[in-house]
Amino acid sequence: MINAKITGVGRYIPEKVYDNAYFESIVDTNDEWITRRTGIKERHVSAPDEFTTDMAIKAAKKAVENAGITAEELDLIILGSVTPDYFTPAGACVVQAALGAVNAAAFDYNAACSGFITGLTIAKQFIENGMYKHVLVVCADVLTKATDYADRSTCILFGDAAGAAVVSASEETGIIAVDIGADGTGATAITQLAYREDAEETEKRVSHNKSSIWMAGQTVMKFAVKAMADASGRVLEKAGLTYDDVALVIPHQANYRIVDAAIKRMGITEDKVFLNLEKYGNTSASCIPSSLAQAVEEGRIKKGDKLILVGFGGGLTWGAALLEW
Ligand code: COA
Repeated sequence: MINAKITGVGRYIPEKVYDNAYFESIVDTNDEWITRRTGIKERHVSAPDEFTTDMAIKAAKKAVENAGITAEELDLIILGSVTPDYFTPAGACVVQAALGAVNAAAFDYNAACSGFITGLTIAKQFIENGMYKHVLVVCADVLTKATDYADRSTCILFGDAAGAAVVSASEETGIIAVDIGADGTGATAITQLAYREDAEETEKRVSHNKSSIWMAGQTVMKFAVKAMADASGRVLEKAGLTYDDVALVIPHQANYRIVDAAIKRMGITEDKVFLNLEKYGNTSASCIPSSLAQAVEEGRIKKGDKLILVGFGGGLTWGAALLEW
C-alpha cells in the first residue's frame, strides 16, 4: 500500500498591512465592531504589481526545498485559486516554468476556500494509484484585488497569501482520510462574475462592479459551522478515531465566530486549534496551507501528530483531511 504524505510545506505572505484603522478611514466601521464580529485585526495585501502566480512561486519553492526534492522530481503541479492571473495559461504552468519542474504536468482548479483540501484529495488519488510520486499542491489568492472596498460587510475580511505542500508517495502513514463535498444550491451565496452578465448580481453589489466579491454573510456563516464540524467528524469516523487522537485542528480562518461555533460543535477546546486570523484575515484557499506552514515553523506540530485540516468556501464547498505528520 502506497501512502500519500505531506513532505514539505511553504508559505508566502506579502508585506503591506491593512489594519482596522485603515477601514475606519474608508468605510463606516470601527475597530471594536470588526474585532467583536470577526476577530480580525490585520490583513496582508499584495503589491499592485504582485499577482497570484508571483506569490504561488515563492510558497512553492519553499515547499519543494523543505520536501528535500528537486523541482525535476515533481510529477504534477496543481494550483487552486479564485483569482487567476490569466484564464489561460493555467497558473500552474507559470509555476512549473519558474520552478524548472520540466517533468510535471500542470493544471488549475477552483474549489474556492476549500481549495487546499480539494488539492490534497487530488494528490492522494494520483499517488495511491501509483501514477505519480511527487505532487505539488499550491494555493494562492489575491482576494484584495477583487474586494469591493465600498462594501463594509466584506472588505474587512480578506487578505492575500500563498501556501504550498509537496505530497509524496511514502511507506509512512500520511493523509489518512479526506472528505470533500459541495452544495451547489448555495452557489449564489458567494459570487464574483466572469463573462456572465447578470443584472441582479451586479445591482446587489455596493460598487455595482460585477467582478468584485459579494456574499450573503449570515447564510455562509450558518453553512460553514455545520459543514466544518460534519466533515471533520466524517474523516475521524472513516479512520475509526476521535478528537482525543488529534493533536491540532487547522480550520479555514474566515471569522473567529465561525471557528468558535464549529469547534464547540466538534466538542473540542481552543488549545487544540490553530488560529492566525487576527493577523491575516481570510486568505481564501491559501488560509489552510499557509497556516499549516506557520504551525510547522513555530514547532506546533511534531512527527507522528494527527492533524485535521478543515475548510469551507464558495460553491458552496467544504473539505476536511485527517493526516499523520
Ligand atoms: N462595520 C460596522 N457595521 C457593519 C459592518 C462593519 N464592517 N459590516 C456590517 N455591519 C452592520 C450591518 O450593516 C448590519 O447593520 P443593520 O443591523 O443596521 O442592518 C449589522 O452590522 C449586522 O450585520 P450582519 O451582516 O448581520 O453581521 P454579521 O454578524 O453576520 O457579520 C460578517 C457580518 C460578514 C462578518 C459575517 O456574516 C461573516 O463573517 N460571514 C461569513 C463570511 C465568510 O466567511 N465568507 C468567506 C467564505 S470562504
